[in-house]
Amino acid sequence: NNPPWPAFRGYHEYSFAHATMGVRLPTILGKAIDDTSRTLNEQSAEDRVIDLVECLERMDALMADLSGNAKLRPIIDDGEGDVALWNKEIAKYFQGKDFMNAPWLFAEAYKYRRLHECFSVSKHWKDYDVFYRQKCDTFSRSSDAVFELSMRFAEPFRQSETISDEEKAEAERLMFLELTQVCLWGNSTDLSLLINMTEEQIKSLQSTGGDHLAATEKNILGNHLNQLWDSVKDLREKTGGRIDFVLDNAGFELYCDCVYADFLIQSGLAKQVRFHGKRYPWFVSDVTRKDWEWLLNTMVYGHLFPKATEAERESLRRLGARWKQYEKDGRWVYEQHPFWCTGYTFWDLHSEAPDLFLHLSRSDLVFFKGDLNHRKLTYDCAAPASTPFDVAIGPMASAPGAPKVCSLRTIKSDVVVGLGDDGDTIAEKLDKEESGWKISGKYAVVLLSEGRPG
Ligand code: F6P
Ligand code: MG
Repeated sequence: NNPPWPAFRGYHEYSFAHATMGVRLPTILGKAIDDTSRTLNEQSAEDRVIDLVECLERMDALMADLSGNAKLRPIIDDGEGDVALWNKEIAKYFQGKDFMNAPWLFAEAYKYRRLHECFSVSKHWKDYDVFYRQKCDTFSRSSDAVFELSMRFAEPFRQSETISDEEKAEAERLMFLELTQVCLWGNSTDLSLLINMTEEQIKSLQSTGGDHLAATEKNILGNHLNQLWDSVKDLREKTGGRIDFVLDNAGFELYCDCVYADFLIQSGLAKQVRFHGKRYPWFVSDVTRKDWEWLLNTMVYGHLFPKATEAERESLRRLGARWKQYEKDGRWVYEQHPFWCTGYTFWDLHSEAPDLFLHLSRSDLVFFKGDLNHRKLTYDCAAPASTPFDVAIGPMASAPGAPKVCSLRTIKSDVVVGLGDDGDTIAEKLDKEESGWKISGKYAVVLLSEGRPG
């Protein structure tokens, strides 16, 4: 049940795995320790202070394990729904492996699980999120793009009465393509790569205007946008058409996902949208339930943008109020299966989380957002760039019941597939001419697999 290509590992010096395991992860953990110390300094009650100091000691031990390339030990039973899955995978495949010689994808996920364990075994700090401040802060510094979208989309989406049916269909198609790109490029701002971003950097990553999108479409190296539209436009006829988003990052990316999902609901293309988030802090900026609630509530009640005009603030409130209403009436559903925070790739989703696979198989289309989800779909291995997407994702395309899957991903790591028959030439040319093209987030893929109705 494995692909024929080798998975990337930390000791592969040619891969982004090496810099991530050796430098990025210790940096991220160092910042997490700083955040926790800051919280510690704000505490007054002795039992909470002592409890948090113990969390910090466990973080220091994790830092020593990571920097010293220790062997991967089992996860302590802290009552989370994923402990059995973690320890089964460690026992079965990674006995005796360390951070650098285990597959990169697994070792990196394992680090976030161990970080969670530092808190989950405590008394008062089980749900503490070391990345929360950073997530909220980056959204608050994204005002230009946030208001550009809210001013445009607060007013419910309506087609002009005076145009023909063909013109209406074309307007809808163009809107769909534009918002798919908004949703796609929203993925550029994940925080694990952009430590200490300036406001200018955030702005340049988040421009959302139409001209800009036309220019960026040429950076979509594997582009199934038109096939995607062909699939989605047929959904309107279905009673109960359902679209799922396996979410990636909180803040601005989630906001873009919601703008897109709002359009899918308003246009009648989908009757229901289900969002899948993480149960605890994951890969720095991934969405947890708290991030989800924070976004909707800060839009409606928050004072996050003191410099905004009243019209801008009102547009954000209206958008947020509409989204909260979707949630109340069940058109939007937020959920968080334990499988999403494990080290398994999605090649194992059908066998290790059959309930989740069955649940997804009932969806008409499942969007997987971002780089990590793409790595998990493709097994994070050295597949040639010409590999067709449905081959690269194995059982997620071929197992009976596999849903239609679409990966919306800006390219931020080694694995690149789905570039078409001349994909290997394209990749070789970029390797020669633009070193770093696989980690810059400048390029993207929009790849579709038709699935296999069960
Ligand atoms: O650190 C590895 C990684 O998965 C990269 O591939 C990517 O840079 C980042 O973490 C997460 O990106 P995303 O939020 O888009 O999944
Ligand atoms: Mg992420």
